Formats: sequence, C-alpha cells, structure tokens
Amino acid sequence: MLFRNRFLLLLALAALLAFVSLSLQFFHLIPVSAAKNGASSKSRKRIMPDPVTEPPVMDPVYEALLYCNIPSVAERSMEGHAPHHFKLVSVHVFIRHGDRYPLYAIPKTKRPEIDCTLVANRKPYHPNLEAFVSHMSKGSGASFESPLNSLPLYPNHPLCEMGELTQTGVVQHLQNGQLLRDIYLKKHKLLPNDWSTDHLYLESTGKSRTLQSGLALLYGFLSDFDWKKIYFRHQPSALFCSGNCFCPVRNQYLEKEQRRQYLLRLKNSQLERTYGEMAKVVDVPTKQLRAANPIDSMLCYFCHNVSFPCTRNGCIDMEHFKVIKTHQIEDERERREKKLYLGYALLGAHPILNETIGRMQRAAEGRKEEIFALYSAHDVTLSPVLSALGLTEARFPRFAARLIFELWQDREKPSEHSVRILYNGVDVTFHTSFCQEHHKHSHKPMCPFENLVRFVRRDMFTVLGSSSTNYYDACHREGF
Ligand SMILES: *[C@@H]1O[C@H](CO)[C@@H](O)[C@H](O)[C@H]1NC(C)=O
Ligand SMILES: *[C@@H]1O[C@H](CO)[C@@H](O)[C@H](O)[C@H]1NC(C)=O
Repeated sequence: MLFRNRFLLLLALAALLAFVSLSLQFFHLIPVSAAKNGASSKSRKRIMPDPVTEPPVMDPVYEALLYCNIPSVAERSMEGHAPHHFKLVSVHVFIRHGDRYPLYAIPKTKRPEIDCTLVANRKPYHPNLEAFVSHMSKGSGASFESPLNSLPLYPNHPLCEMGELTQTGVVQHLQNGQLLRDIYLKKHKLLPNDWSTDHLYLESTGKSRTLQSGLALLYGFLSDFDWKKIYFRHQPSALFCSGNCFCPVRNQYLEKEQRRQYLLRLKNSQLERTYGEMAKVVDVPTKQLRAANPIDSMLCYFCHNVSFPCTRNGCIDMEHFKVIKTHQIEDERERREKKLYLGYALLGAHPILNETIGRMQRAAEGRKEEIFALYSAHDVTLSPVLSALGLTEARFPRFAARLIFELWQDREKPSEHSVRILYNGVDVTFHTSFCQEHHKHSHKPMCPFENLVRFVRRDMFTVLGSSSTNYYDACHREGF
C-alpha cells in the first residue's frame, strides 16, 4: 500500500514538474522572429537541457516521463513557421513508433496486464480512434510491399504481445498526424486537392508497431485516406540504408562504442548492486536478469501507471528504476564525450540522409513526386540521424518522437531554397552542424538548402577526422 501511494505521489509530482517545465520551455520558444535579429542563441537552446526551466540535476523520473510522452493537451509546435514570402515545397518526416509493450519480460514475474485492443472510451481517448479502427479494418493488401502486407493494421490483443503497439501508441500518432495536417495541409496546402499516390513516399520497417504507427499518423494527417492511393514500402534495415548497408568501419565504431558502454557499467557499483537486489527478488542469476534488459519492462510499468512487480522475496521498486534510469542518462553523456557513437552515427545515417536530400533536390526542381515522405522507424533509426546532424544534445527519442525536414522556396528569389529541421516540434535548425554558424556569415532568416547538401555529400565525412570525402572510402578506411 505504502509503496503504491508513494509511487503515485512521485508520478503526480513528476507529471506536474514536466508540465510546468515544458510549458516554460515552449513559452520561451514562441518568438520566432527572434531568429531574425540574431539575439536568439538563448531562445534556440531549448531542446537541450536548460538550467532555468529544468531540474538542476538530471532527474531520472522527469526524464522517464518525457520518454513516455503520455498524450495530453495539444502541444504547441514550431513546424511550418517561415517568413510569409516563403513557400513550403516538401516535408520529410521520421518517426519513432508510439508506446509499445516491452520487448523482453522480467524473468519469473507476471507480465504487466496491458490491453492492446483499441477502445474509444478508455484512456487515452482520441475522437478519431473508432473511425481509425473501422477504416483500418477495410485495409487492402495492395497498399503494402511484402512482407508488410502480412501484418495486422492495428493492435488487437486483450493482453499485449511483446513489442505490440498500445492504444497510447496509436493515440500519440493520431495526434502527430492531426498536428501535421493542420500545419502542412490546411495552412500551407502542401498537397493538391487531387493528390495521388505519387505525391507520397511511405516506408516502414517490417514490425507491426512501425507500420501501425505510420498508418495512425497518416490517418490523422490525410483528410481523405483512400486505400487506393496508399503504398507503404518495406525497409529491411533499421538504419534505412537500403542498398548501401555494407560499411565495415561503421561496425568497428559500433564495437568500440559497445565496449565503452560495458566499461562504464562495470564502474558503476550502485548499478551492479541494484541488479543484484533485483535478481534476488526474482530469484535468477544477476547475469540473466541483466540480459533481460529490465529497464525496458520497467518503463512500461512506469508509463502505464502500473506498480512494479513483486514476488514472495520482495518487490522491484522505484529506487531500482531510478538507479538504472540515471545510469542510462550518464551513459548518454559519456557517449557524447567519447564520440565513438558519432562515428557510427555519421556512417549509419549517411544513406538515408543522402536519399532525403535527393528527394528534396527533385522537389526543388519543381517535381511533384514524393513531396511528403514518411519513414516509420525506431529509436535506433532516429538516434544516429540526430547525432549525425550534430544534434548530439537532443534527448533520446521518446515514444512517437518526430524529426522533420522542411524544404522552402523563397518566392522573391525562386531559385533559392531553405531547410528547417524540427525535433518534437522544436526548431533545431541552428543547432545542426551545417547551420550552427549561419548567423555569423549571413543575414538570411532561413538555413540555405545548399548547406545541408554540402554537409551530406562531403562535410559529414570530414567530421570523422579522416581524409575520406565519400561514403565508400569512409566505410572502407584501412587501419582504423
Ligand atoms: C494511476 O492509477 C491509479 C489507480 O491505480 C489512479 O487512481 C491514478 O489516477 C492513476 N494516475 C494517473 C496519472 O493516471
Ligand atoms: C547518394 O545519392 C545519389 C543520388 O541522389 C546516388 O547516386 C548515390 O549512389 C547515393 N550514395 C549513397 C552512398 O547512398
């Protein structure tokens, strides 16, 4: 009883804290025009931990709540903001799937009882949930590249299966879709009224949670979700590297990064002790418990307001959760400093960034195909892209995270194009490696598209500190 009350109190407190802090965060962000007078370096810093509006020390409970991304009131966002003489040309959306059931179970405990059927009068609510289910059940196999056509189009198990998208996950992406519809379709008229299959580019990995997340977003986004106009391609690689996945140097960076992770863990005696205690509770060897990646399950209990499991030996509790979550945050901090992950990320993200700028270039030339692209993906997709762009301080991708590339044309100088990058609704364009210095050299209000092109085609390889100037050489460098 006592445990439960304390848990609820903590959750409520943390929710309040997150709400207040986020509100402040967005409040500071509102003045877009600040970007014009160059006085914006402070207001632009907001996706990074901010000493004024956030807890002074990294608070594991606060961080975990951000990660859950529990659907609440409509959030403010900076998507679609540009001076009025700019015209929106194309939009490229990378999402992480929404809230899901854990991928692993904590050994010898009962799995959390989460219902993965979609029920309109159960929290979290969404006015379009019922219509979504009914529309999905009319889905057509012709809309999906194999093997996506064999996946269920919405979650539907009374006890969630491992990794299954939950109602929370569906609602998160219905909301994302609706938000993007208001901005891109209603306000900026990105798609013509008679849009067709060719205007969209849709791609998902082969997991039901990514496909279903993509469908929920698209259902919220399109006012006219016509199955005949939908075609989802299948992406076999979580890096979305298609035909360019072979890259030995990238794998070497990853091995070194994993070694770093392992050594950091060994140094943390509090963490080892915590795993030991938890292993005793569930009565398995510590090694086996650790291998079951318990934080993934614990986050599910936490995000769904279900108390952590107990056995006759005791309970897994909030203190355990905080220790492991704190370690995760410290691990991310060291990951930024050591830069091994950066090497992995640059090489891992190059193919999809290269493909994206190709798509943007064609749109800039006036072609109307693929002007709205959606990649439905994973944390292991978004993380490398964020790092590669130089957004190393950005938070770990929460459930239903969205990273968006916008391409704009200056109506007064039609040959000039600009890009904006947004992460979870925050404009991070001027944090990226390719536009950080922009204000020092230019008075243009937007980041020139050429900066991004130059970065992806060439400069991202020099960040690696090698003499390579292309992907193939960087991937096959000897003596690394
Ligand atoms: C968590 O669950 C309890 C019931 O177990 C409920 O009273 C409380 O309102 C819930 N809290 C949130 C934040 O949903
Ligand atoms: C990059 O994109 C261009 C076309 O835009 C393509 O020819 C080239 O093969 C791509 N390179 C990589 C490494 O993906």
